[in-house]
Amino acid sequence: MACSSFVKLNAAASSWIGGHQSVNSRSGSAPRFSNRRLSVVRAGSYTDELVKTAKSIASPGHGILAIDESNATCGKRLASIGLDNTETNRQAYRQLLLTTPGLGDYISGAILFEETLYQSTTDGKKFVDCLRDGNIVPGIKVDKGLVPLPGSNNESWCQGLDGLASRSAEYYKEGARFAKWRTVVSIPCGPSALAVKEAAWGLARYAAISQDNGLVPIVEPEILLDGDHPIERTLEVAEKVWAEVFYYLAENNVVFEGILLKPSMVTPGAEHKQKASPETIANHTLTMLRRRVPPAVPGIMFLSGGQSEVEATLNLNAMNQSPNPWHVSFSYARALQNSVLKAWQGRPENAEAAQKALLVRAKANSLAQLGKYSAEGENEEAKKGMFVKGYTY
Ligand code: 13P
Repeated sequence: MACSSFVKLNAAASSWIGGHQSVNSRSGSAPRFSNRRLSVVRAGSYTDELVKTAKSIASPGHGILAIDESNATCGKRLASIGLDNTETNRQAYRQLLLTTPGLGDYISGAILFEETLYQSTTDGKKFVDCLRDGNIVPGIKVDKGLVPLPGSNNESWCQGLDGLASRSAEYYKEGARFAKWRTVVSIPCGPSALAVKEAAWGLARYAAISQDNGLVPIVEPEILLDGDHPIERTLEVAEKVWAEVFYYLAENNVVFEGILLKPSMVTPGAEHKQKASPETIANHTLTMLRRRVPPAVPGIMFLSGGQSEVEATLNLNAMNQSPNPWHVSFSYARALQNSVLKAWQGRPENAEAAQKALLVRAKANSLAQLGKYSAEGENEEAKKGMFVKGYTY
């Protein structure tokens, strides 16, 4: 990464505790704070573009459509409507989603799996071009999935750093402008200090490599819904996880203005005896974010994590009832796709109805981003929870 004149104060506490004198190397002026140190963030050649990309994704009334399921996970979606997991069926499903007329009114970015990034419609138009024509930024899942973490309490870690720089450069050439890396933290398994540290370090290395190659990194430590713990325990774990994530992001000189976050909402465990209201969830989630996320970060794009479509939308709406320092929005997979699959059933004659179903969900979440959503008139299907114990992506 080229060293440039981009010098700024690093928000991380660690930057302020060194014993060195601070010198702004360009100004040449005498240091004024003898006991403080200026941290130099080395902006790469892509910095301005990253900031612009992140801002355009985090634009009012817009969120992300996550359709980056691996082939195996996409197979689970297709199986739910009786379709085989073939490349043709995956292409047909992604084509239906990505060619929905008017999608760009509510969706500013779409996360793709590698297969989709290189794929075209049946008419031969690249999916990436469909997105660009619809004013939607193409993104790419770059992690290589979860494997057991030896030495932990049955926890996992996320693979994919080897070769990531060259893969990212290729994805950029292919049209991707942002990336996603999802790792998970399990509350019932501890989480162990080792698992949290590994998750945070992996995310930070990935974020630095993505920025170096022109991709805005979505930072996603998913705190799984599994467990019977109360909401206060989720808040405690989320604070711990995000503290470590930001510590290592700063250590890796990641430019905070050029990232997006994908947190889990702070909710009780899925098996806790009491459900929480959207107001309680919004309250706890915003408390956690205010304590941990610098306002330099442009956007918080929540995952849905197994909540029902309506729940995910109501919770987002509750978080946007008063102004936030960041754009607070969605990056849902299940909570945008469930109704679509049900409407489609793999039949070409249902494609239009399925696209309408996608627009209904996208518009509902767009309104929730603006704090103007009401669940009135939502159908029963959209209220069905999608939590699956021990769910793997
Ligand atoms: P869900 O909204 O289904 O939890 O998906 C999250 C995700 O990470 C997909 O990119």
